[in-house]
Amino acid sequence: MKNILVSGGAGFIGSAFARYMVARYPQYRIIVFDKLTYAGNLDNLLPISDEAQYRFVRGDIADRAAVKAAFQEFEIDTVVNFAAESHVDRSILSADAFLHTDTVGVYILLDEGRAHGLECFLHVSTDEVYGDVHEGYSVEGDGFAPNSPYAASKAGGELMVRAYHVTHGMNTVITRGSNTYGPYQYPEKLLPFFITEAMDDRPLPVYGDGRQIRDWLYVEDHVTGIDVALHYGKAGEAYNIAGEDLRHNIDVTHDLLGKLGKPETLIRHVPDREGHDRRYAMDASKLRALGWTRGHTFEQGLEDTVRWYADNTWWWRKIKTGEYLEYYQRQYAARLAAAEQSRP
Ligand code: NAD
Ligand code: TYD
Repeated sequence: MKNILVSGGAGFIGSAFARYMVARYPQYRIIVFDKLTYAGNLDNLLPISDEAQYRFVRGDIADRAAVKAAFQEFEIDTVVNFAAESHVDRSILSADAFLHTDTVGVYILLDEGRAHGLECFLHVSTDEVYGDVHEGYSVEGDGFAPNSPYAASKAGGELMVRAYHVTHGMNTVITRGSNTYGPYQYPEKLLPFFITEAMDDRPLPVYGDGRQIRDWLYVEDHVTGIDVALHYGKAGEAYNIAGEDLRHNIDVTHDLLGKLGKPETLIRHVPDREGHDRRYAMDASKLRALGWTRGHTFEQGLEDTVRWYADNTWWWRKIKTGEYLEYYQRQYAARLAAAEQSRP
């Protein structure tokens, strides 16, 4: 492994992976390949300054010619694919871009990777492919039951990865991460959205009763999990990367308000997300058996995350303009109005 194409590396987890790899493996060359959608942000890569070790290429993973050119120019031998449309609520508004990137884009990357003779293809997937887990913990052999258009498009991409391993003998590894949080996360996802809204004393729209359960994973732990799977994972296998720290959304909301010293009166219970999965929970023993351990508790990770957003307003204030505000309006205006009407 020498020249690694990190597709989607200008996003939240992909940029954390690129920053980590440059620091951890000076002998590797990291090529970030990213379309720079609304979620892609070159500010996330500012901490990487070493031109010899890192390069950025703007491109779409569903654009065959662009993928082929990058593979050839940089003599890529390994792909770690983060590129995706990643937000469930946006997939409910429209799923076009999700199919384009999360399913078709993955196919194009695989197909060009095969033609180019890649040594390894690691695909970053999600616990959401397992669907709603009422009790117990998902293990890697469990079936898929995706419920949102986002989860379905990710499942489609994963199945294509599997097929390229079985049919074409490609060396593929899949990781399935749980709900990830930390610095540089686009402020549409629960934690960065609520932290930055609360900092401005704005209402926090909790969907439904807020008793949905998610498994929280600090971004650095997600990244070390991918590193372990990349170096020690077995071809054709999938590995869960889970914080194994299950919490109700409403408790997470109380926790972050407490850390910020903001009042609970900011909470609004708004009409629920359509098709909302009640619970995600995964078992991470298979990855632990390869040597991975989770390094952060939720308490510590939340503390660090809240501090980072407080110290880096320059990063998120410029995001919360333009397209972001249009999305906010579409997603929340009617919901917040409905919540206001039903207040005593
Ligand atoms: P993100 O939305 O922050 O970043 C996605 C990145 O992909 C952006 O930089 C965007 O510009 C890029 N991109 C989108 N379409 C592209 C295309 N067609 N070609 C090239 N680049 C494109 O997402 P994230 O939260 O960092 O998630 C990264 C990966 O991890 C995704 O595959 C996601 O499904 C998976 N994942 C995320 C979580 C989570 O909680 N955030 C949990 C488990 C798995
Ligand atoms: P999110 O961060 O969108 O991740 P995912 O849907 O992939 O789990 O949401 C996490 C949880 O928080 C999920 O149960 C939905 C809920 N949520 C809200 O209650 N309000 C919000 O405004 C958002 C964005 C999420």
